[in-house]
Amino acid sequence: MAGQSGRKGHIVIENVSKIFARGDMNSTLVALKNIDMEIMPCEFVSIVGASGCGKSTLLRVIAGLETTTVGNAMCDGKTITGTDPRRGLVFQENALFPWLSVRDNISFGLRATKKYELGKKLVDDLISMAGLSEFSNSYPHHLSGGMRQRAALARALAVSPDVLLLDEPLGALDSFTRMNLQDEMLNLWHERGNTMILITHDVDEAVYLSERIYVMSPRPGMIVDEISLPMSYPRNRGASDFMDIRNAILRKLHFAREDSQEYNL
Ligand SMILES: Nc1ncnc2c1ncn2[C@@H]1O[C@H](COP(=O)(O)OP(=O)(O)OP(=O)(O)O)[C@@H](O)[C@H]1O
Ligand SMILES: [Mg+2]
Repeated sequence: MAGQSGRKGHIVIENVSKIFARGDMNSTLVALKNIDMEIMPCEFVSIVGASGCGKSTLLRVIAGLETTTVGNAMCDGKTITGTDPRRGLVFQENALFPWLSVRDNISFGLRATKKYELGKKLVDDLISMAGLSEFSNSYPHHLSGGMRQRAALARALAVSPDVLLLDEPLGALDSFTRMNLQDEMLNLWHERGNTMILITHDVDEAVYLSERIYVMSPRPGMIVDEISLPMSYPRNRGASDFMDIRNAILRKLHFAREDSQEYNL
């Protein structure tokens, strides 16, 4: 089952809680509490929340890198029990293997699936799409931060994931590079139609990119709001509806923090 459209990349999170053991203190930490979400195939969804509220933990559950303590995470009707190339993950930084060239980084997943020969043209296309043709044989430390993130996105896309999980992929970049890459992410999404799940601290980024935004409370991480964004793309960051939604989300984050027992920002 892959949602009503028949396309893949349908994520359902049912009453998920995650409790970590605090080894040093012989106590526990509730990172996620009663999370319910449904993300449709090809949808672009963002998750915003204060630092430490459990965003990465939630994404790692969807990636299959973390188990749930309670509840169930499913992709296309099947419980997620481990990682799967159909769910690609891009981290904030250090996402590339430093000992591999740009080309080898991007083709890494294809090599692992023994589809490299079939995928050679795809890798060339991705290198060119990422604007890295002149740097395909360079190593990550020879690239700028923006180039590294473009290469990391290209690497995640090489295996054609149904779901792209993006954990602050642009977090370390200056605002100008960031805005350019936001447009590139939108182009990619429109071309490929993957389900996109983006974690960001940047509310403007979430409003610029997403069809829907989940707002999380500070620890324990719960979903405190879900906002649908009806504006068409490309969006105008200065438009009044853009600013209204942005301000409403900032207020939500502020109140969620005020209501919280803990101070996490
Ligand atoms: N493997 C782990 N063992 C124990 N505690 C963990 C583990 N991973 C995360 N935590 C705790 O769970 C909470 C949520 O962490 P998480 O990394 O998901 O937050 P986040 O919202 O992604 O924060 P940030 O915005 O700073 O990246 C934190 O208090 C963190 O210390
Ligand atoms: Mg995080």
